[in-house]
Amino acid sequence: MSLDPVAPFLGALHAAALEAMRNAYAPYSKFHVGAALLTEDGKVIAGCNVENASYPAGTCAERAAIGAAVAAGHQRFRAVLISTEADTPTPPCGVCRQVLAEFGTDLAVIARTTNGGEARWVLADLLPDPFTPASFRH
Ligand code: THU
Repeated sequence: MSLDPVAPFLGALHAAALEAMRNAYAPYSKFHVGAALLTEDGKVIAGCNVENASYPAGTCAERAAIGAAVAAGHQRFRAVLISTEADTPTPPCGVCRQVLAEFGTDLAVIARTTNGGEARWVLADLLPDPFTPASFRH
């Protein structure tokens, strides 16, 4: 038996991230991204990148997933799985690392490609010395 607490959810996370990736709106970059969050209580909530003719107004899949999860009442997460059609697994961009870190850096980050590639990190390693709610006291 695996000691990895995320392992039983990988199938559901992957399916949700793939479905979201296929719904991505990315007519400019043509880089479709799906991200699925695993909430602390075992729910899976996905998002995709949504680009815009005004390029900076576009958003990443990971931030779309965070927005959907928070709107659904979830603020504690165990993992995020990112799905792309890239040649190699893609980690979250810097802005998404920051947004994910708001809710905890002890987050498993899994990236998968449609060609079968996979990479894994812990958010704390992707964003060392983060600025978090604990940094902000007034
Ligand atoms: N993108 C994401 O959705 N997540 C990332 O972490 C990196 C980049 C999107 C943004 C844009 O729509 C496209 O990928 C190309 O940068």
